[in-house]
Amino acid sequence: MLTGHHSRVTDARRQLTVELISGASGLVLALFMWGHMILVGSILTGARGFDWLAGTLEIYYIAQPTVVVILALFLIHAALASRKIPAQLAERRRMIELGKTLAHAGRDRPANASAISPLQAHVESQLWIWQVRTGMVVLVLGSFHVILLGLDVLTPLFGERPGIEALTSAARVKAGLWLPYAILLVCVEFHASVGLYRLAIKWGAGRLLSRRTTRRIESVLLWFFLGLGVVVLLVLAEVLPPPFEFLLTEPVT
Ligand code: HEM
Repeated sequence: MLTGHHSRVTDARRQLTVELISGASGLVLALFMWGHMILVGSILTGARGFDWLAGTLEIYYIAQPTVVVILALFLIHAALASRKIPAQLAERRRMIELGKTLAHAGRDRPANASAISPLQAHVESQLWIWQVRTGMVVLVLGSFHVILLGLDVLTPLFGERPGIEALTSAARVKAGLWLPYAILLVCVEFHASVGLYRLAIKWGAGRLLSRRTTRRIESVLLWFFLGLGVVVLLVLAEVLPPPFEFLLTEPVT
């Protein structure tokens, strides 16, 4: 009897630890993604701004360990966050069915129905399903990208020296990487913003903000970083000229 209780407590403790590590690694990765988008966004000031920033992060040995740490966090997060998936796959079909029923119920409900809309449950289930789908895409394309950038930062495989350069980044984006990057961009921004939203709800944001406000913050962040990412990708692919290049042009003497 006592052994059963003891093993349940141990199991609950283990579950909590896993939950904390997967949440914390997800949080760090989502914050990294915003920082990353701003750093890669230096291409908007042209090759000079981008190369200066990349060079500085490499000279001070910030870029090299970051690639290794991000790859490790990425794999830890994927392994821990996906542990629920097999058990929930069967529930997934039921959830879609339930979602459809709830959406219909939402349509029929009287105008003065309670604040907790049945439609809300449907949206939340759909968000979770899309988070799993986008997570799988991010795992495949993101691992490829981080390994590629690891090779770029640590070896002279791309360009003439180890390190990120605007010339080689733009060349590979133009040569075809724009397509996986565009898919990765949409999936990672969706995954990170929905992940942060779910994390906020799970850890008590409801005490400070209504669910509607939390969701609105999530949408603003999603569309901002998605918009920035699209412009950055178009500049990297040399479809658009860098809009802020004039800021870094040397004065004519
Ligand atoms: C420390 C690790 C990372 C470094 C050094 C890095 C660096 C870069 C660089 C230099 C580019 C420009 C394109 C290129 O050179 O190929 C880029 C683009 C991109 N990266 Fe990363 N990255 C890292 C991690 C990640 C991760 C973990 C993700 C998402 C899972 C990601 C998603 C993207 C996307 C979507 C683009 C396309 C640019 C855009 O649409 O704005 N990166 N990254």
